[in-house]
Amino acid sequence: MTKTPLVKPEFSAKRTDPYGPPTIHRQLQVESPVTELDWPETRRKVWTVAKYEDVRAMLGDTRFSSDRSRPEHPAHVAYDEVSHQGAIIEMDPPEHSVLRGRIMNEFTVKKINALRPRIEQFVNESIDAMLASGNEGDLVHLLSLPVPSLVIADLLDVPEKDHGFFQKNAEIFADGNLPQDERKAASRAIADYIAVLVDERTENPGDDIISRQIQAGSTRQEAIGLGHLLLIAGHETTSNMISLVVMTLLDRPDLRQQLEDDPKLIRGAVEELLRYFTIAEPGGLRLALEDIELGGQTIPAGSTVFGLANTANRDPDVFPNPDEIDFKRGARNHIAFGFGPHQCLGQNVARLELIIVLEILFERLPNLKLNVPVSELRFKEYSNFGIHELPVSW
Ligand code: HEM
Repeated sequence: MTKTPLVKPEFSAKRTDPYGPPTIHRQLQVESPVTELDWPETRRKVWTVAKYEDVRAMLGDTRFSSDRSRPEHPAHVAYDEVSHQGAIIEMDPPEHSVLRGRIMNEFTVKKINALRPRIEQFVNESIDAMLASGNEGDLVHLLSLPVPSLVIADLLDVPEKDHGFFQKNAEIFADGNLPQDERKAASRAIADYIAVLVDERTENPGDDIISRQIQAGSTRQEAIGLGHLLLIAGHETTSNMISLVVMTLLDRPDLRQQLEDDPKLIRGAVEELLRYFTIAEPGGLRLALEDIELGGQTIPAGSTVFGLANTANRDPDVFPNPDEIDFKRGARNHIAFGFGPHQCLGQNVARLELIIVLEILFERLPNLKLNVPVSELRFKEYSNFGIHELPVSW
């Protein structure tokens, strides 16, 4: 990469290149790995952290707070007092540790692997619907959005008759093209729906996550907040990754060929593409609770701090030739699922969904192709990175 000096260092979280972090973030990694910049989009100053080891140190240190109920927290704008209870992603210890401890064993590898037949069914049913509908369409709406919402509905044991309602509202909530009010209404509809499940299962406990959370001591509101968080955290993220993985393989026939020649590479491919796209970068936003030494700098108490996970996952000291997609790299040490106490609880669910999509999609639709070049796709620039639509034919 050519090195031009930073003329007026200003931070932007906007993603400009679908295939990589903004140039300024890469320059920061080389020239000022831990530094304070203006962040005009938020009218704040922000400390950015760009080297892999520093981002991990920061995410692993609870003096960098995730507690959005604090008015000084950079994500306080999105804080909602009601859904906060149970939303472990926006809590600090000891509250966070108690609630996370209560849900942890729902996400063991064994439990997640047991989801395989259901996920295969959801992927196959989505492809059946694609085939029944003709020979072209938008893969985001045909596959990427429905599969993760059905998986979360399944995790919460949402009755099959309500999957349509759940899926429709999950899709509206995840659609960044829609007005904010419409998305909020969909989010509330889901929370209200989960509240009904919580009340029913408090009366008549079943063999499901919600019932077990209530039996383990969760309050009504905590159980609602947790069910809601699983959807918020697990739907759009996984959906975006499904679209990006499929897009990459359609755009790079050489990579697709590698997987066809050796399907055992699928796991490594999923890991490498998680690293490569690192779609949930805003997960690295924190508030410094005290003066903290990091990367040779002192970050003062009260500072907004942004761990640039996307840039960290391209750190050449950890990932040689970081801009190359290499399915044999062994990239499992990436931080696309975060790191430390808040590391993604649903990561093995997301991995399994991606693996199953790759196992089934190209086998069932061998002629799948992009209808427009990647340069014409509309990418999401903020928040979770992804594609608005992926027009394909099969
Ligand atoms: C490719 C898909 C996914 C990506 C890239 C992703 C990424 C992340 C990241 C970066 C964090 C850490 C946020 C932070 O440090 O503040 C996180 C947390 C979390 N994720 Fe995921 N996630 C994905 C899928 C899922 C799924 C499928 C679920 C649930 C079924 C899920 C549930 C959660 C939860 C509950 C947390 C909060 C954990 C805590 O605060 O203790 N995620 N995720």
